[in-house]
Order: sequence, then C-alpha cells, then structure tokens
Amino acid sequence: MQSSFPFIPESASTLSGDVDAVYFYISGVTVFFTTLISLVVIFFVIRYRRRNPFEIPRPIEGSTKLETLWSVIPLVIAMSIFVWGAKVYFAEYRPPKNALEVYVVGKQWMWKFQHSTGQREINELHIPVGQKIKLIMASEDVIHDVFVPAFRIKADVVPGKYTSEWFEATKPGRYHFFCAEYCGMNHSGMGGWVVVMEPAEFENWLSGNVSQLSPATAGRQMFESLGCASCHGANGEGGRGPALLGLFGSNVVLNNNQTVRADEGYVRESILNPQAKIVSGFGPIMPSFQGQVNEEQLLQLVAFVKSLSTTKPETPTTKPPVNANVKPSAPH
Ligand code: CUA
Repeated sequence: MQSSFPFIPESASTLSGDVDAVYFYISGVTVFFTTLISLVVIFFVIRYRRRNPFEIPRPIEGSTKLETLWSVIPLVIAMSIFVWGAKVYFAEYRPPKNALEVYVVGKQWMWKFQHSTGQREINELHIPVGQKIKLIMASEDVIHDVFVPAFRIKADVVPGKYTSEWFEATKPGRYHFFCAEYCGMNHSGMGGWVVVMEPAEFENWLSGNVSQLSPATAGRQMFESLGCASCHGANGEGGRGPALLGLFGSNVVLNNNQTVRADEGYVRESILNPQAKIVSGFGPIMPSFQGQVNEEQLLQLVAFVKSLSTTKPETPTTKPPVNANVKPSAPH
C-alpha cells in the first residue's frame, strides 16, 4: 500500500503525520539552504572573478552585524528542529497508561505475539483501530527490531531486557512490519503484517481465536509450579519474601535506601537476578531463576505480578478467555 505522495509509506497512525511533518520540515530547510548556498557560490564566482592579472582585491573589514545575523538565524532554525523533534520523540516513546498491552518475543527468525486475553500469533498481529497499543518486547537470542513504516514506529528488541513501543492505528488495513536490525541469515524474512480491524471485527477475531491461557493465568500457574508461593504467599500476599499484591507500578525501597519503580524490567530482573535489588527488610535468600524460564514464561510471570496490582488493573476490552483445545491461532 502506498500513499499518493511518492517515496513515503502509507500514513496510518496518530503520530505518523507528526513524524512526516518534522521530516518534511528538516528536508525543506536542507533543500532551501543547499539551493541558496549553491546559487550564491555561483553568483560570487562570476561576480567577483579576477578580471585582469594584476588586480589586487580590496581589504575586507569584519562586520559584527553580519556575523551576529548569520549566527542567530541558524541557531533559531536548529533550535526549532530540536524542540519540534523532541516533542514528537517524547510523544512517540512515552507509552500512554491506558494502552492495550501485547507481549512480543523475537527470536531467529520469527515474531511471537500474545494478547493479554491469551491469543497467540506468529508473524501477524491483529489489533483494533482507534485503540492505543503498547508492545512489550523481549528477545530470545540476539538484537532484533520492530519497524512498522506505516505507523512510523521502530524500536530495538534487546536480549536481557524489555523494550516497548506504542501506536494507535487510524485506519483498518494490513501493514507490513519488518525486523530492522541485522540478526543473521534470515533477517530479511523476519517480518509480517499488522492487521488493523474495526473494533467489532476485532472482538469477533478474538473470540474465534481463544485457545490459550491468558498470560496472567499462565503466569500464576508458573508461580505455583516454581514454588514462588512458599515465600511470596499463595496469592502474592508476602511472607519470607516481599508481597507482590499491589507491587507493580509502586515505588520500592531497597536495603540501600534507594527507591526503584516496580516496572516490567524490575520484576524481570528480580526473577533472574534477585540479588541485584534487595527490598528493604528482606535477606538475600531468593535463588535465581535464570535458565529455568524462557522469555515467554518471564513475560507471563510479569503479567501475573501486574495482575496483582491494584494501581493498574488489567485492561480487558474483551471477554476473558474460554479454555478450549484449539491450535495456536493461525488467524485470518
Ligand atoms: Cu531479527 Cu533482523
């Protein structure tokens, strides 16, 4: 799908227009000054050419007025690019609070998506139009990158941490997405489609594809099977280990009196490397779960901890999943 303007991909998110505007502005400034300087150079070459071999040029005095002028004008232009660019950047890289969350795991060479209601997809992501979507992304191996040109979003997916990006699609359709970080032999084939649907159609798609436990429910089962409950309480109410109820999104005081925010990255680190940040009042007794859980399972544990939080309830715009033994969604 192409827009009417050549060389520009379709514009299909709430932010794509702003990104394009900054892009055109910077391009416009560049083209204007390139043309201006080229013309002035040509004009001076002709106008001030040496007319006879014995000509001695007149000496030139500095001009404070002129130098101020050609310092201030570029400064104003550069600052306008900076301020406008920063504004769009912050809008694009600060996910809104009320976004629908989708978990993404990249691995050589495929993308796995899981909705908060449990549906799984591979190399295809179905989402409703007019809804803010936040992708919480992890990598199973090397650095990948999710790039959706039509939404003008792009962010690295880095092993060992979570990254995120968000968008709100403005029109239904199928939009190509790519892996935009060279990740080995089949990098060029590591992509797929974002399918943007009308809300009703999306509900329909969701209900036709329910097959898995929701990430939070799967996370609760892992929490039980890994024995986390023996220290954190059967319902996360705490015990020998810190309480998990209401933890997510709160500020945690550590034993060195530092305060950290309990976000996805914090929960992840506390599972894999519990000694890194020890909560005030607790001993360093938790074993590491490194190697026992993969990225998908980690995301499920994070989703479970998140679901215990009162500050940020899960945002199901859809019915809770019905358990049925259907194969992983092969959507259309
Ligand atoms: Cu994954 Cu390139």
